[in-house]
Amino acid sequence: MDKQRFQLMLILAFAMATTDFVKVESLANGLGSTPPMGWNSWNHFSCQINETLIKETADAMVSTGLAKLGYQYVNIDDCWAEHDRDSQGYLVANGRTFPSGIKALADYVHSKGLKLGIYSDAGYRTCSSEMPGSLGYEKKDAETFAAWGIDYLKYDNCNNGDLKPMERYPQMTQAIMSTDRLIFISLCEWGDMHPATWGSKLGNSWRTTDDINDSWESMVSRADQNEVYAEYARPGGWNDPDMLEVGNGGMTNDEYIVHFSIWAISKAPLLIGCDVRNMTQETMAILGNKEVIAVNQDPLGVQAKKVRMMGSAEVWAGPLSGYRTVVVLLNRSVFAAQITAHWDDIGIPPNTYVQARNLWKHITLEREFVGKLRAQVSGHSCKMYILTPVSQSE
Ligand SMILES: *[C@@H]1O[C@H](CO)[C@@H](O)[C@H](O)[C@H]1NC(C)=O
Ligand SMILES: *[C@@H]1O[C@H](CO)[C@@H](O)[C@H](O)[C@H]1NC(C)=O
Ligand SMILES: *[C@@H]1O[C@H](CO)[C@@H](O)[C@H](O)[C@H]1NC(C)=O
Ligand SMILES: *[C@@H]1O[C@H](CO)[C@@H](O)[C@H](O)[C@H]1NC(C)=O
Repeated sequence: MDKQRFQLMLILAFAMATTDFVKVESLANGLGSTPPMGWNSWNHFSCQINETLIKETADAMVSTGLAKLGYQYVNIDDCWAEHDRDSQGYLVANGRTFPSGIKALADYVHSKGLKLGIYSDAGYRTCSSEMPGSLGYEKKDAETFAAWGIDYLKYDNCNNGDLKPMERYPQMTQAIMSTDRLIFISLCEWGDMHPATWGSKLGNSWRTTDDINDSWESMVSRADQNEVYAEYARPGGWNDPDMLEVGNGGMTNDEYIVHFSIWAISKAPLLIGCDVRNMTQETMAILGNKEVIAVNQDPLGVQAKKVRMMGSAEVWAGPLSGYRTVVVLLNRSVFAAQITAHWDDIGIPPNTYVQARNLWKHITLEREFVGKLRAQVSGHSCKMYILTPVSQSE
């Protein structure tokens, strides 16, 4: 086959792999053209937060090199405010734990070249109940966040008086869009009412699942629940299977590699959830894998899907820019012997020879592959490859 026909075939195969997009409006703030990357306080610290921790985290994001790798948001979760609003109805930073106030903290974080995120709730109180929610105060709170220099809002769903999310979330989005500040909007509705089908008008990402915890079962079940909505993800609006647990100690290193690999190909927000001031080398090697990060940040912005399951062996795959394909071979348990990705399943034209790059070993395999790629994968582990077409046989 000549080169032109080969290229045409690639373009066609590629178009087929990407036409099952759902046509949806997206939020007109221009943010989230690739999934957001950063850190959030909740998974490691829950309510035990203060301005010293946030500043030290910002420092560590820079000194560890995470910032340079693209992790730019430093996000404060629940428990940053006083129990009650002030007499004018404004939220107030907790005087004991955030004595300098959030504006000063934003200035500090910005001075490091990073962005500051904050948390509120589309109900009467936040999930911890330690601070007020924003329901009925959306305008005041959006103005407050903008005035403080906030760059990202995680908007939770607790204590909502049984009002539907569609009655509560639009108020905050409109209020934020009426400020003069660009704020990434992260809808944290836990996937209750299938926000993938309406969230893109209201936010730059939407949770598809309940909270994750630091266990294999929780992690893979979040991955599965999130995968169902793959066709709704695209630049400007992303499915969110919750924040990363990598480095928190509840999983093995191989399990954390699976966690990071699946989040990356699922175009999930990469929000680190460990104590970045005190990471092991193993943790840094996972969170800092440039090749895997590049998959997550690929400009095409197409979420990978689970394309084949053979018992506990799974193949996840999706298209990348440059006619490349990313594949994760995942061994969820202790059955089967080898995992095979067939070109039919992963959207590569038959007879196409590819070069395979192993993203965790950082090596390009010497031989080229045609038709399929097969590998041995240990239990609770994965292998991750980028396949780049090199030629076509008759
Ligand atoms: C701030 O929070 C961190 C993390 O929970 C804690 O280790 C530290 O003692 C706290 N510092 C102050 C001054 O409360
Ligand atoms: C974590 O989540 C898993 C699965 O969702 C659940 O079975 C387990 O009880 C949870 N563990 C904790 C400590 O909450
Ligand atoms: C740092 O992490 C190690 C384990 O990786 C832990 O034993 C130690 O307590 C941590 N130190 C702090 C100050 O959190
Ligand atoms: C999964 O891991 C188990 C345990 O290491 C191994 O026996 C099995 O062959 C692996 N399965 C696949 C499909 O690689």
